[in-house]
Amino acid sequence: MATIDRTFHVDPATMHLYIESLGKIGWQDECGAVRLAYTPAWMEARKQLSAFMQAAGLEVREDAVGNLFGRLRGEDDSRTILSGSHIDTAPCGGKYDGILGILAGLGALKTLREQAGQPRRSLEVVALCEEEGSRYHATYWGNRAMWGMIRAEELDALRDADDISIGEAMRAAGFPPERYHEAARSDIAMFLEMHIEQGRILYDEHVELGIVEAIQGILKFQVTVHGRAEHAGATPMDIRRDAFQGAAQMALDITRQVEERGRPAVVTMGRWDVRPGGVNVIPSEVRFSIDLRHPDEATLRQLARVCSETCESVARRRGLEVTVEQIENYLPAGMDTALQQTLIASAKTYGASWKYMVSGAGHDSEQMSRHVPAAMLFVPSVDGLSHNPAEYTPIEDVVRGVNVLTATLYQLAY
Ligand code: GLV
Ligand code: MN
Ligand code: MN
Repeated sequence: MATIDRTFHVDPATMHLYIESLGKIGWQDECGAVRLAYTPAWMEARKQLSAFMQAAGLEVREDAVGNLFGRLRGEDDSRTILSGSHIDTAPCGGKYDGILGILAGLGALKTLREQAGQPRRSLEVVALCEEEGSRYHATYWGNRAMWGMIRAEELDALRDADDISIGEAMRAAGFPPERYHEAARSDIAMFLEMHIEQGRILYDEHVELGIVEAIQGILKFQVTVHGRAEHAGATPMDIRRDAFQGAAQMALDITRQVEERGRPAVVTMGRWDVRPGGVNVIPSEVRFSIDLRHPDEATLRQLARVCSETCESVARRRGLEVTVEQIENYLPAGMDTALQQTLIASAKTYGASWKYMVSGAGHDSEQMSRHVPAAMLFVPSVDGLSHNPAEYTPIEDVVRGVNVLTATLYQLAY
């Protein structure tokens, strides 16, 4: 397919209004966007989005776990073409990660309804309820619910920093947790997701769009190190069993080995908990997270072994006990090649420059691609910034992406 049948031009003022309206919700000064799953800010964002969906003439519905859908019903309503992303944010996130993909789907469906009328096949935009895993170790929660992948025991086992289970949080937000299985769907035909790149390749190379070929694999671990709490003044250095010194050395040794492996391997230890937390007490217990990523499965597994062997050898040398628990496991995921070609044809029709990319970040498309054809379109991130309140994509880059998405959905559904 060299080019596609018809082009559309979404209204930049509407996209700007959408982004700024949602961007205000959950914004905290000196932090950024905070819309963690099932919190009041998350609820308020869904309410605003639902109003925008209704105003765009879409049929609005939410499911049992809180995913929100806006439907443009087709002549054949047996299956639906889905587009969207996640509404939750990283702990101090920005105005674009996730939410832009929802607003892109919304802008596309609004434009198609106004300019092309009823589609042959149904189209839906989705705000997926939890992708980041910022509040719970529940990455892709809403997405997994749609595929019937949630296990009942997770409702109680997944707990936030205040020990509130995800089931309790759901109930408080008006979603009785025992009904989680009702979110499962079998009528999704395919998934398209527009997203900011969250890196600096498009920005540095002045390329307008990224066509994602694959999403790299992600393994997450929780490491718990046990030592002995003792007096900070009365205990000589050479006989301490300091859990923090051990954990810090584990983190540095792992980081050095991943650095030696070179790009694109990445590792991050972003969450630390040091106990008992006294200035004059040697730490007795430390928990820290490891987020390890690589596009090649064999290399990812080999680096995972590096992580656990390093923790064990440091613990042995320092007289500590350590457990390394794998808490999440997402293998590399390929995007659908036919959908990539349709996106490329659409980009060419608009005269937009594009390149193939591997996504460093995880995305809802990763889970979707395990079940249905899925594809992703990246728009540039200024300075490559993301998971940061300063993340920004100029409106002309947003509009270009939404136009390409709209024409692609037209090609697929009309
Ligand atoms: C989500 O943004 C992730 O890649 O962790
Ligand atoms: Mn995202
Ligand atoms: Mn993110």
